[in-house]
Amino acid sequence: MSLRGRRVLVSAGPTFEDIDPVRFIGNRSSGKMGFAIAESAARQGADVVLVAGPVSLPTPAGVSRIDVRSAAQMHAAVMAALPADIYIGAAAVADFTPLSVAPGKIKKQAGVDTLTLELVRTPDILAEVAVHPRRPRLVVGFAAETDHVEQYARGKLEKKKLDLIAANRVGIVGSGFESDDNALVVYGRDGFERALGPASKIELADNLLELIAVRLA
Ligand code: CTP
Repeated sequence: MSLRGRRVLVSAGPTFEDIDPVRFIGNRSSGKMGFAIAESAARQGADVVLVAGPVSLPTPAGVSRIDVRSAAQMHAAVMAALPADIYIGAAAVADFTPLSVAPGKIKKQAGVDTLTLELVRTPDILAEVAVHPRRPRLVVGFAAETDHVEQYARGKLEKKKLDLIAANRVGIVGSGFESDDNALVVYGRDGFERALGPASKIELADNLLELIAVRLA
């Protein structure tokens, strides 16, 4: 099954939400899974746009890369890159961002032992793509969960109106964010369920894209 001629839009990596000029809120996403998906899709002949959060991974061959830092920038870049045949949201987008960025470095104050940061919700890029007037034919999400993996993943599949969701358990050795290997369970709307791996992220990307290509045929 080939992806030749298909436009595939992938988000990858963490987002960094600035607090002041020297500090930010980030997360442990390495970007490896999203980059592997972009690489695999390009190898299969797709026209791939990769919106990447702050990671220092090399750009896969034949992939158009757009670098962003924050959830707001990732949101703008993804929306600007539509339309696409397939959207795969592999990025670990921050759910909250500071209400305002301090213009100068926040200093400690004598006698004050606490600091309160006010955070606001970021746009849910995946959910917005799934109801966009130019919705890709297939919208695929990821769910990184520490527990109740199937229940939470299926909940996100329904709530965000996705076609497929790839769930992985984080917080165990040899799986998840920083690892080269991973294991996924892919769930679909129609009750579909398929376990992939444990395998390298490249192998998993190939397997996931196979499931996707079948649905586009
Ligand atoms: N996602 C997104 N925009 C956000 C938050 C999440 O596009 N602001 C996408 C991710 O790229 C991923 C999916 O939503 O494909 C699931 O992300 P996750 O953080 O696991 O789920 P949340 O909806 O944030 O739910 P919760 O934090 O409650 O687990």
